Amino acid sequence: MPANFVDLTGRVSIVTGGSRGIGAAAALELARAGSDVAVFDLDGDEAGHAAGAIERETGRKARGYAVDVRKSEVLKQMCDAVAEDFGGIDHLVNNAGVQFVAPVSEFPDDKWSFVTSINLDGVFYATKAVWPHMAARKRGRIVNVASVHGLVASPFKPAYVAAKHGVVGLTRASALEGAPLGITVNAVCPGAVLTDLIRNQAPQLVESFGGGMSEDEALARAFLDEMPSNAFIDPQEVGQLCAFLCSDAARSINGAPISIDGGWAAH
Ligand SMILES: NC(=O)c1ccc[n+]([C@@H]2O[C@H](COP(=O)([O-])OP(=O)(O)OC[C@H]3O[C@@H](n4cnc5c(N)ncnc54)[C@H](O)[C@@H]3O)[C@@H](O)[C@H]2O)c1
Repeated sequence: MPANFVDLTGRVSIVTGGSRGIGAAAALELARAGSDVAVFDLDGDEAGHAAGAIERETGRKARGYAVDVRKSEVLKQMCDAVAEDFGGIDHLVNNAGVQFVAPVSEFPDDKWSFVTSINLDGVFYATKAVWPHMAARKRGRIVNVASVHGLVASPFKPAYVAAKHGVVGLTRASALEGAPLGITVNAVCPGAVLTDLIRNQAPQLVESFGGGMSEDEALARAFLDEMPSNAFIDPQEVGQLCAFLCSDAARSINGAPISIDGGWAAH
């Protein structure tokens, strides 16, 4: 085992939703560890900019691709294109995700489909698309960015909680199939990470708490009270965990939902 035990030199990684937030941090940490990186996101230009920044900082090859993870056929075509452009696929970080907050009785049907199609169906489609490439090499790493909400629930997030619990189940099922093929599949389960996904909830939270507070105070009340660490998680921490799970050092970790939540799920 190399002295730097997260050595991904010569590997090729795909990160979905890699233009910003946790996905951008994961893409950067994978490249810092030596991997070339394909950034998948809705907007091809934004994915390209994110890839360009990674290439400038790390010197690794990085490219952006316009991919909507709800489209199984597009994912297949783009994964095949990455295998062609980069010479194979070693790692997939299934990170693209969205949130919508409303009580069950008022939750719009189309928002249910919106959240579950991206947060769960997209993970399945991408897993299916990379699988033959990894199986052919008898090696692969899939890291699903689930959530603490893959392990415990919060009110007003029924679609998100259901989808993330589904991701943990899919992680376990695909890990069992992957093991004989040299493919590991794990889930990371972050608590609150200060990205757009969390910040966008601030106005609604202020309102639900009856007003009279700043958005930062509302975010602290909603999220920090859940985390015994009383601190938001940095996207880089989640990115580094993803990189570790892609390394040879993590070869015996399989089918595991791994908490990175300041103790939230320990309640
Ligand atoms: N921020 C948190 O506190 C937190 C906690 C636990 C889990 N997560 C999970 O981490 C992942 C990343 O979240 P984030 O906080 O970085 O959010 P973010 O909103 O900052 O980034 C999400 C990214 O996904 C992309 N995306 C959205 N829909 C897509 C689609 N259909 N196809 C391809 N890309 C798409 C967006 O364009 C964006 O780049 C999500 O799966 C989220 O559920 C976040």
